[in-house]
Amino acid sequence: MRSLHVDDYNHDDYADKYDEDVLHEDNPIREGYHALLDWGIQTADVGKGSRVLELGSGTGNLTARIPAVCREVVCVDISQDMEEIARPKVAHLPQRSFIAEDILHVFDRPLGRFDCILSMYTVHHLIESEKRLLFHRVWEHLVPGGKAVFGDLMLENPGQRESKMALYREAGEDETVESIAEEFFWLLDEAVEYLETIGFVVTVKRFSDLSFGVLAEKPGGTV
Ligand SMILES: C[S@@+](CC[C@H](N)C(=O)[O-])C[C@H]1O[C@@H](n2cnc3c(N)ncnc32)[C@H](O)[C@@H]1O
Repeated sequence: MRSLHVDDYNHDDYADKYDEDVLHEDNPIREGYHALLDWGIQTADVGKGSRVLELGSGTGNLTARIPAVCREVVCVDISQDMEEIARPKVAHLPQRSFIAEDILHVFDRPLGRFDCILSMYTVHHLIESEKRLLFHRVWEHLVPGGKAVFGDLMLENPGQRESKMALYREAGEDETVESIAEEFFWLLDEAVEYLETIGFVVTVKRFSDLSFGVLAEKPGGTV
């Protein structure tokens, strides 16, 4: 199944501006970006022999941080222009591949299972029912003991949608108001509850008013 808004959020037209844009951490949407990516890599703790899947790999800013010891990295992003920018940044990874595909639809392929599935600032482009489906696909494609590490734009609960928009409107942050209104920021409390229902053990860390990291561990593996 292809996600509903994948063509709207294909970043082709934005690719040449993206890496400059994420430097502007004074923008509430970007605040915490680099710290969250650093946390994502530390938390994933990708080891020798690991297979890693990255969903929405973009210009490769997270992929570039993955240590070369890992066995294989599979990057998925609908935007081939973002992929072009990522390619030179990931040359240190001995076995890497790119799939230009929707992050939901890609699971229809025989991908196998991964030690780690990473996704930064991409899952908020999926509507709620698609997020839930994605969490199930992630569970199915992780080995026992595997980790899913997400970083993204989030509201803690639905009630925050209006209050945050009012706050940012007052501060003159119109781009942020528009993003909250039009995109599908995670509803963190509900997402955590759902991930736990599936069986994940979940840990959350906050990086800014709108950016959070979510570690979802699949129990099992060697003791
Ligand atoms: C905000 S960027 C984040 C990129 C990167 N993970 C980072 O943190 O810098 C979102 C990326 O997801 C891709 N994208 C958005 N929706 C997608 C979908 N449904 N399937 C695949 N890629 C998608 C866009 O093309 C873009 O490269």
